Amino acid sequence: MDSEQMQTMSYEVAEAIAPTWERRREAIEEVTAPVRAWMVERLAPRHGETVLELAAGVGDTGFEVAARLGEEGMLISTDFSPRMLEAARRRGAKLGVANVDYRVIDAQRIELAADSVDGVLCRYGFMLMPDQAAALAETRRVLRPGGRLALAVWGPPERNPFFTLVGAEMVARGLFPPPQPPPAPGLFSMDDEERTTALLHDAGFDDVQTEELPVAFGVTDAGAYLDFVADTAGPLALAVRALADDERERIRARLEEALAPFATERGYEVPGLALAALAR
Ligand SMILES: C[S@@+](CC[C@H](N)C(=O)[O-])C[C@H]1O[C@@H](n2cnc3c(N)ncnc32)[C@H](O)[C@@H]1O
Repeated sequence: MDSEQMQTMSYEVAEAIAPTWERRREAIEEVTAPVRAWMVERLAPRHGETVLELAAGVGDTGFEVAARLGEEGMLISTDFSPRMLEAARRRGAKLGVANVDYRVIDAQRIELAADSVDGVLCRYGFMLMPDQAAALAETRRVLRPGGRLALAVWGPPERNPFFTLVGAEMVARGLFPPPQPPPAPGLFSMDDEERTTALLHDAGFDDVQTEELPVAFGVTDAGAYLDFVADTAGPLALAVRALADDERERIRARLEEALAPFATERGYEVPGLALAALAR
């Protein structure tokens, strides 16, 4: 697949899962709250600043920042998927956040002037882009000198069983293609701390600090687990949705066994690991 085809596929996946991503917003935020908190704290937004959120999805990370920018400051909440952006607009309206400019923007070609923002946020976005180098260079271009980027991506697959348990089962049955090594985009394409740091340096960031952030996905049973993956996990989500009933049942039964080591009193808690970075 060439990079244009990857981009088209990524766009179609985002548009297809936007409604369920929005419906699952609360659960997603609950799992990933430590990542959001890290990003907001490290970005350290100040009154009056302009902050750009790339690949914002439903936008919660940015909305938390918007509250700190005050009336003179502004959040530019963006995503390349119009349906995701509409979901963010609804969420922003519900929260009553007024200092937000919503725009459809592809992070690999940011339609903003150079040196026009003080901070950039991007949670679980860059790793999905076919041209990560271009997206990071564009991010550096729109940041003012001294501006900060706070990002998060997923760490290595072996530290993220929440995704790999289902993914491996689907791959083993020939129902999903095996993951391609970086630079091909994907959930784990920026899992290597050294490579991600090098990408940031190459894009013009001088000072890069990274940190591993553990998260935990709570699920009640294997069926609920599959439903959550089908609602949220990008291309894997669409493959799970397409399963025939008997195939789905076989996978659910296998997952029940695979989940056993993660059992708690209330169901299962499956670990995940995000890799976060602050760059300036
Ligand atoms: C996994 S979701 C993360 C959403 C949100 N940042 C969060 O943490 O909840 C990935 C998002 O990246 C967006 N995205 C993927 N490629 C993009 C690109 N090239 N430019 C802008 N947004 C992109 C998708 O539309 C989707 O909303």
